[in-house]
Amino acid sequence: MSAPLYEKLISYKSMDIYPFHMPGHKRQVNKLGFGEIAEIDITEIDDFDNLYHTKGIIKEAQNNVKILYGTKESYFLVNGSTVGILTAITSQCKRGAKVIVARNCHKSVYNAIMIKGLDPIYVYPSIIEQYGLVGEISPKEVESLIINNNDIEAVIITSPTYDGVISNIRELAKITNKYNILLIVDEAHGAHLGITNYTANGAIKEGADLVIHSLHKTLPALTQTALLHIVSDRVNKTKLERSLSIFQTSSPSYILMASIDNCINILTSNKEALFMSYMNNIDYFRNKLNGLKNIRIVGMDMIEKGIVFQYDITKLIFVVKGLNINGNNLAEELRNLYNVQVEYSTKDYVLAMTSIFDTMEGFNKLADAIISIDKRLYKVNSTEKTKYIDTYLRAKHRINEVEDLEIKDINISDAIGSISSDFIIPYPPGIPLVVPGEILEEETIKHINQLLQQGIDVLGVRDNNRISIIDEEK
Ligand SMILES: Cc1ncc(COP(=O)(O)O)c(C=O)c1O
Repeated sequence: MSAPLYEKLISYKSMDIYPFHMPGHKRQVNKLGFGEIAEIDITEIDDFDNLYHTKGIIKEAQNNVKILYGTKESYFLVNGSTVGILTAITSQCKRGAKVIVARNCHKSVYNAIMIKGLDPIYVYPSIIEQYGLVGEISPKEVESLIINNNDIEAVIITSPTYDGVISNIRELAKITNKYNILLIVDEAHGAHLGITNYTANGAIKEGADLVIHSLHKTLPALTQTALLHIVSDRVNKTKLERSLSIFQTSSPSYILMASIDNCINILTSNKEALFMSYMNNIDYFRNKLNGLKNIRIVGMDMIEKGIVFQYDITKLIFVVKGLNINGNNLAEELRNLYNVQVEYSTKDYVLAMTSIFDTMEGFNKLADAIISIDKRLYKVNSTEKTKYIDTYLRAKHRINEVEDLEIKDINISDAIGSISSDFIIPYPPGIPLVVPGEILEEETIKHINQLLQQGIDVLGVRDNNRISIIDEEK
C-alpha cells in the first residue's frame, strides 16, 4: 500500500518548480513558518487532480478509502463531518420532506433541516440515569414513527454518540429497508469502528445507506479531515456530488487531503497490529483502574445489563455522579494538578478520548491521576436530578419558518414562555438543547442557567445572558 497523494506532494516539494499559482505564501517557509506543512500546500496544478472531478491521484487515494471501509463510494472531506452531514441530508431529501431525526443530533443536522425546509419528527435517545449519559435510539420507536407518519424520506441518527453509545444500526437498517427509507448515520465519532474485529462494527458494515466520519476525531489525521461514504444503491450519487461541491470549499487543502491519504495508508498497511496494541492498552488501563473505590468507569457491563446495544470501549468516561466532586472540577484537577487535558466534562462525568496513537505513558499518566484523585473522594447524598435532554420541549414554529419572523433580544431570565429564534447549544458537545421555534419552558431556562453556572459555553446565549426570541407583537 501507499499514500499516493501524500507521497507525490512530498516528492514535489523537493523539485525546483517555481509556483506562479495559489496559495499566496509561495511556499516561502522561511518567511511564513509552518515548515514542511507549508511546503506541501499547493492547489490544483497539473498532475494533482481535482477533488470535484477526480481522474488521477485523488481518485486513487479515495479508492483506497473504499477498499478499507468496504463502501460503494467514499469522498474526502476537508470541512469536517459538518459538510458531509449537510451534503448527505440536503442532497437526498426533497424540500419540505418529513424526516425522523434523533433529537441528540449535532447542530449540522439541524442546519441541513433549515436549509431544505424539512419537517423533523424527533426520536429521543434513552437516558442512562446511573451514569448521567444520553443513550441509544430504539429501532422500535423509529418503526412506530414511520408507521404513524406517512412519507418519511430519511432517518437520521448519531451513532456512536460523543460518549461512545452505539445504537442497533443493523435493526434500524432492516426497518428503513423495509419501508424504503434512507438511513443516514452521523458516525463522526466512529471512524475507527469496523476496520478490524477489535472494535464494534461501524454503521457501514451494519447496513446504513450513508455514513459520515470525522477522521480527525478518533484516527490519526489533521483537524477538519473527514469522509462521506455511500454504502447502498439507494443513494443518489449525482445529487450527492452536486451538493458536496456547493457546501464544501472550492479550494480544498492539499495538506488536509494528504493527511486523509496518509491516515488511510497507516491503517491499511498496519491496522491489525495497531488495533491489537491499542486494545491491549485500553484493557491494561481499565484493569489498572479496577480497584477504584468511588469513581466509576463506563464499560461493557452496560451491554451485559441490557442498558445499551453496543458501546465503544475506547471512550474513557469517569463518572462522579453522587461523589463530593463534579465532572467539571475533576477535569480541572486533571489539567491543573496532573497535566492531563480531557476532551470534555459535564456535571456528572469526564470524557477522555483515545486513539491508536496514544502511548502507554499517556495511559499511565491518566490512570495514576485518577487513582490518586479517587482516594480523596467520598460518596454524598444528592437529591439533585440531572437534566439530560429536554424531551418535553414543544415547537410553535418549524425551524425553517423562524428565519422570516421578527426577533428581539431579551435577558434569559425574562424569557419563560417565549419562543426561541435561535439554537441554544452547550458546547461541547454541540447538540442543540433548544432549536429555533421551540418554546422556552421554565425548566429549560433553569437547565441553561445551571450550565452557565458550571462555566459551560452555551452558544446562543450572548454577553449579559441575552438570547434571541421571536417578537410575537410584530
Ligand atoms: C456527533 C457529531 N457529529 C458531527 C460533528 C461535526 O464534526 P466536524 O467537527 O468534523 O465537522 C460533531 C462535532 O463535534 C459531532 O460531535
